[in-house]
Amino acid sequence: MTRILLLGGTTEASTLAKALAEAGMDAVFSYAGRTAKPVSQPLPTRIGGFGGAEGLAAYLKTESITHVVDATHPFAAQMSTNAVQACAAAGVPLCAFERPAWQAGEGDHWLHVDSIDAAVDALPDTPARVFLAIGKQNLTQFAAKPQHHYLLRLVDEPDAPLPLMHTTVEIARGPFDVAGDSALMQRHGITHVVAKNAGGAGAAAKLTAARTLGLPVIMIGRPDVPARPIKGSVAEVMAWLSHSAA
Ligand SMILES: NC(=O)c1ccc[n+]([C@@H]2O[C@H](COP(=O)([O-])OP(=O)(O)OC[C@H]3O[C@@H](n4cnc5c(N)ncnc54)[C@H](OP(=O)(O)O)[C@@H]3O)[C@@H](O)[C@H]2O)c1
Repeated sequence: MTRILLLGGTTEASTLAKALAEAGMDAVFSYAGRTAKPVSQPLPTRIGGFGGAEGLAAYLKTESITHVVDATHPFAAQMSTNAVQACAAAGVPLCAFERPAWQAGEGDHWLHVDSIDAAVDALPDTPARVFLAIGKQNLTQFAAKPQHHYLLRLVDEPDAPLPLMHTTVEIARGPFDVAGDSALMQRHGITHVVAKNAGGAGAAAKLTAARTLGLPVIMIGRPDVPARPIKGSVAEVMAWLSHSAA
């Protein structure tokens, strides 16, 4: 009997959840619990951390999980590392469902950096208007450049004071489109965009908008995660599930 744990929190995870439900597969969807109203899924859903790699390994046993699909965000490196360790310890096959990283194209002005701190350093010293499109984590580091105005796009209203002085908060949930993102950037007089290289379609509109408006993008590269098999489409994940089940 196949019983899948799907680690979610991305558009790709929701797409896969739909496919698993339609195929009538036994699967549990897992959210970290970061947003107040997570998208509801067509699968039984659990919310909250497992308690590190050990907690996850114990969960895999208790819940008789036979396969884990890690469809978390490419920047959710802790969860992905825990999944590799827990699956190795429990002897449960794991694959990641991961979207390819975005690549700069003609007309893009990207500055590649490898960490949040490097993105802060890359911002100019003179006051700028920055679209900080990185979610709610890691805002604190940008307090080192208080001269800038930061436009934040968040899923939920902040439940605590923000660590940045000059901010405008836009509450919105993706996917976003180019017309909307161009209008947003023009309305706020944006001069710089800071983005995590998430890949995928849902959050790519800001990059096309930045290209159209001739704005520089400070692109933060993905964190390292231990090696695991990577599948790039729902069909590939489904094939992996049926091969390893066989
Ligand atoms: N990081 C981003 O930029 C970003 C962007 C969009 C969406 N997300 C989504 O937001 C969630 C949290 O991301 P993060 O960057 O905070 O992760 P993280 O730093 O890698 O994970 C921190 C801890 O959160 C718990 N966790 C993370 N994802 C989980 C899941 N799907 N189910 C159950 N527990 C989970 C785990 O707690 P325990 O150790 O207690 O098990 C994990 O150790 C993920 O589901 C991710 O897909 C993240």
